[in-house]
Amino acid sequence: MAENKENERKTYYITTPIYYPSGNMHIGHSYTTVAADAEARYRRLKGYDVMFLTGTDEHGQKIQRKAAEKGVTPKEYVDEIVANTKELWKLMNVSNDQFIRTTDDFHVKAVQKIFKKLYDQGDIYKSEYEGWYCTPCESFWTETQLVDGKCPDCGRPVERTREESYFFRLSKYQQRLIDFIESHPDFIQPVSRKNEMLNNFLRPGLEDLCVSRTSFDWGIPVTFDEKHVVYVWVDALSNYITALGYGSDDDSRFKKYWPAQVHLVGKEIVRFHTIIWPALLMALDLPLPEQVYGHGWLLIDGGKMSKSKGNVVDPRILCAKYGCDAIRYFLLREVPFGSDGVFTNEALIGRINADLANDLGNLVSRTVSMQLKYFGGVQSADKVFADADNEIRGLFKEIYDNVQVQMDALQFPTALVEIWRGVSRLNKFIDETAPWVLAKTADTVKADKDRLAGVMYTLLEGIRAISVLIEPFMPETPAKIREQLGIAERPELTAWETAAQWGVYPDGTEVKKGEALFPRIDPQKELEELEKINALAKEKAGGSDKANCGTKTAENGEASAQQEEEGANLITIDDFAKVQMKVACVESAERLEGSDKLLILKLDAGGEKRQVVSGIAKQYSPEEMIGKKVILITNLQSAVLRGVTSEGMILAATKGKKLVLLTVDGDIPAGAKIS
Ligand code: ME8
Ligand code: MG
Repeated sequence: MAENKENERKTYYITTPIYYPSGNMHIGHSYTTVAADAEARYRRLKGYDVMFLTGTDEHGQKIQRKAAEKGVTPKEYVDEIVANTKELWKLMNVSNDQFIRTTDDFHVKAVQKIFKKLYDQGDIYKSEYEGWYCTPCESFWTETQLVDGKCPDCGRPVERTREESYFFRLSKYQQRLIDFIESHPDFIQPVSRKNEMLNNFLRPGLEDLCVSRTSFDWGIPVTFDEKHVVYVWVDALSNYITALGYGSDDDSRFKKYWPAQVHLVGKEIVRFHTIIWPALLMALDLPLPEQVYGHGWLLIDGGKMSKSKGNVVDPRILCAKYGCDAIRYFLLREVPFGSDGVFTNEALIGRINADLANDLGNLVSRTVSMQLKYFGGVQSADKVFADADNEIRGLFKEIYDNVQVQMDALQFPTALVEIWRGVSRLNKFIDETAPWVLAKTADTVKADKDRLAGVMYTLLEGIRAISVLIEPFMPETPAKIREQLGIAERPELTAWETAAQWGVYPDGTEVKKGEALFPRIDPQKELEELEKINALAKEKAGGSDKANCGTKTAENGEASAQQEEEGANLITIDDFAKVQMKVACVESAERLEGSDKLLILKLDAGGEKRQVVSGIAKQYSPEEMIGKKVILITNLQSAVLRGVTSEGMILAATKGKKLVLLTVDGDIPAGAKIS
C-alpha cells in the first residue's frame, strides 16, 4: 500500500468498469456503478480522500459495426449515447469524481505511449494471429477453448480471424501472476473467482495475447505502424491509470492515488482484470491494484438481463416512479453481493413497501407525529430512561461497528441488514413502550411525562443515527429525515462517527411534519402498470411473440395471492364493469409468419368482425380453431404485434406450458354479452 504522510488523508481509489456505449442501459448496468458509489460515499464519510472513476469504453469492432448499421460515424454514435450515460449516473446520484472516455485525447496519447514502451522493451512483438474472435466480448479464443464452436464466455458465434498482429508476451508473466495471486489472498474476491482464475486459466498455461487489429480502424492507432489499432481491452484497461495522468506531463494524481484499492467489476470480466491487466502492469513495472472484486449478475427470467425480456428494467422509468433511493436500496439489498440474483417487479415493490414504506417510513412519521402531539414537537430536557433505552444505545453502537466491517468488505446487503436491525428495534420499542398510554397520564403524573420524553428521545436519537448510516446507500433520504427531525442545518450532528454516539440530538429541538418518505405502493395496480410499460417498450423494440400477448391468461403470479390476503387487490363491481366481454366465433385462423406462437384469428362478435393476434399457436392449430366460441375482451386498446393489428384479446387459462382456451358451456350465439 502507498505510504501516506501523517498529515495527509488516506486515499481510496475505486473504479467501475468503463461501459460499452449502449442505447439500452438497463438496471443491471447500474449495479456495478451504484455499488461503487455506495462504497465511495462511505469512504468519504469516513474521511478518506476518495477518487471514484467511471467512464465509457468506446472503441472496437462492435461499436464500429453498430455505428455502420445506423449510418453514422463511430464518434457520432458514441457521443450521443455517452451523454445519456452521464445523465443516467446523475439521475441515480452517482458521485464519480471523474468520467473518462477512451476517445479522450489524453487517454489516446497515453495508451500510445504504453504500447510503444512495451514494444521498445520487447514485451510486444509482431507476428500473425490466426484464431477466433468474439466481437460482443471483444475476446480472442483458440480452437480448443471454444465450447461447441461458440464463445466460451457468452455462447455466441465467433469469427475466424487471420491477420498480421502485435502480441503481448503474456506467457512470460504466468508464474509471477500465480505467485502474486497466491501470496495476496485478497487480490481476487470473492474467493471462488480466484480459484476459477487459477485453475481454469493460469495453471493450464497462458498464451501470448494478440494486442492489435488491422481488419477495422475504430481504435487507437499504433504510432509506429499505423494500419494497426490497439486491441480494445488493452485500450480499456489502461483507463484506470491514464485517468490519473499516467503517461502525461502531470502525473501527480497518479502518484497520489495509484495503486487502486479496488476495481469493482462484473464476474464475466474478472479474467481481463486479474490476468491481462496485472500482467500489463507488471510489464510497465507498476504496482498492482489491491483488489479486484467480481460481483454477480442480475438475472431476468433465468437469463442475464436484457431489455427484450419480461420486466421493466429501464432505470430511468424505475427511478422516476419510485425515486432513485428506493432503486438503489433494492439493488444493494436484494442480492448477496458476489452472487447472481433475480430481478422481478414483484420483489422490487415488495421491498419498497416492506422495508422502506412500512419499516423506515412509518418509523419516522409515527415518531414525528407523536412528538408533535405529546410535546408540541419540542424535545423536553426532563427525560427518564429505562433499561430498554440503554439496550438500544448499545445496539446502535454494535450496528455502527458491524456496518463498517461489512462496508470494508464491500458487503452492501449485509450492511443494510444491520441498519434495518436498528429500524426494527425502534419500531418494536414503540409497541413495547406504548407512548399513547403514557400520554394519557403525562399531564397529571410528572414521572410519566418524563418517561414519555425519554422514549421520544431514544426514538429521535435512533432515527438520527439511521439517517447517518443509510447515507452511502440513499443520498436523498437522509436530508428529508433530518428536515423532519429539525436538524437539517446542523451537519455536525450527523457526521459519520455520530452514528456511534448517543445523546447528540439537542434538547429543545423542534420536529416538523414532512411528507411520507416512501409512499406505500398498491402492488396490484403498480404491477399492472409496469406490465403495460413493459409491453409498450417491447413493442417499440420490435414486437414480441410472448405467448400471452393477445391472450389474457388466468395465471397471474404469486404476488397477487399474497396481496389478496390483505384485501389490496379487491375491485369494485364498477371496476369489473369496465371490462366488456362478448362471445365470439372464430371464422378463420392462420399462423403469423415468422412466429411459432402467434395465430391471427378473424372473429365474428355478433355482427361485428374483429381481428385478434393470439399466442396460442403452440397449443392450437389454425384448423381446429375454426368454429370455436371464445371469450373476447372487446374494449381493449388495439395493439400491433409483429406488424399485425390485434383488436382485443381472447381468454385462456395457463399452467406452466399448458394452455387451454376459455369457451362457453352451451349453445349461445356469437355477440352474447358476458357479465
Ligand atoms: O464489460 N447484472 O462493459 P459492459 C449485473 N467495456 N451487472 C451487469 C449486468 C447485469 N445484468 N449487465 C451488465 C464491459 N453488468 C467493458 C469493461 S473495463 C476496463 C471494460 C455490468 O458495458 C458488467 O458486469 O459490458 C460490468 O461490470 C458493467 O456492467 C459494464 O459492462
Ligand atoms: Mg458486458
